[in-house]
Amino acid sequence: MHPDLTIATDFPLQAWNTFGIAARAARYVRVTSVEVLRAALADPALAAMPRLLLGGGSNIVLTGDVKGVVLHMAIMGKQVLPDTVDGATIVRVGAGEAWHGLVEFTLQQGLGGLENLALIPGTVGASPIQNIGAYGVEVKDVLHNVTVFDSASGQLRTLDAAACRFGYRDSVFKQPLGAGLIVVEVQFALPLAWRPQLAYAELANAVRDAGLLEPSARQIADLVIAIRRRKLPDPAVIGNAGSFFKNPVVSGQRCAQLLAAHPALVHHPQADGTEKLAAGWLIDQCGWKGKAMGAAGVYAKQALVLVNHGGASGAEVVALARAIAADVWQRYGVQLETEPVFV
Ligand code: EPU
Repeated sequence: MHPDLTIATDFPLQAWNTFGIAARAARYVRVTSVEVLRAALADPALAAMPRLLLGGGSNIVLTGDVKGVVLHMAIMGKQVLPDTVDGATIVRVGAGEAWHGLVEFTLQQGLGGLENLALIPGTVGASPIQNIGAYGVEVKDVLHNVTVFDSASGQLRTLDAAACRFGYRDSVFKQPLGAGLIVVEVQFALPLAWRPQLAYAELANAVRDAGLLEPSARQIADLVIAIRRRKLPDPAVIGNAGSFFKNPVVSGQRCAQLLAAHPALVHHPQADGTEKLAAGWLIDQCGWKGKAMGAAGVYAKQALVLVNHGGASGAEVVALARAIAADVWQRYGVQLETEPVFV
């Protein structure tokens, strides 16, 4: 057995999921290195158990105790590489690092590129899995490559951005092709010729209102942080997993039909002719904002976020999510898909 491999039993997970759901893991391993990961996967006592890979716990709903082993990613390290690639500075980061800590680190180094993604909860390792995005930027836009441990072969592999097959909150790591791939390191490419990304109207307005004609990456990060603090609940104060539903994508034709019946429908045309609808708007229109079912509720300032008012079980969160999706379906004929993973 590897000297750093410690296997805990009946481990409490409440502090390790941002919803703050009280569930326990039959076994728990803190993965501090690739060697510990390799040893845990080879351990005879753990080999037969189902595995749950846990990052920052900001995108999961624990619907009950975890019967198998939780592998808690804690591979650390942040490093600016000496050589640039194609006009970009490469930053190499361990999968267990906190995402926002990385954003702050890059800004302190004078590197722009991650500022629109400030204050997103979760870990660096989870960022390509979910292709996290906010205010007009997604991780795919700044990603150089991802190093994974392939649990089938026991080998490390490096995937470039194309191999990650990124989509809206989607990647190969959520698809059958990526089964068994465990992200251990991510490299980001931050362009030396940095430009502000202000396509998202709310952010552009904030920059204008602040009177910033040539905003720096730091100033943009501060504005993003202010917007997020205003609209989204801090998981340290009130349990939540960010947006609970994805913004549904419908055909242009379907969107036109919906607009005829609901002229105020919030929609954003996509490059391929489809339309992205605002799930928060649909849920809000159904009257769910600020409502609760048991200890699970809809955040009062943003209908897309479900919250734990204290002591909510995973089952209560699921029941609330189902009721919301059923209402949206009945009123708009639009199917909502959840963003967090149900365990
Ligand atoms: N809206 C309402 N009522 C609400 C919430 C939203 O009418 O209760 C309307 C807003 O007025 C706006 C529209 O819906 O016209 C969209 O709302 P917003 O700009 O706040 O963004 P969002 O679509 O709700 C998405 C991402 C967020 C990301 C923001 C900013 C998804 C599922 N969510 O939210 O990502 O921070 O845009 O880019 O794509 C996350 O994924 O966890 C997340 C927080």
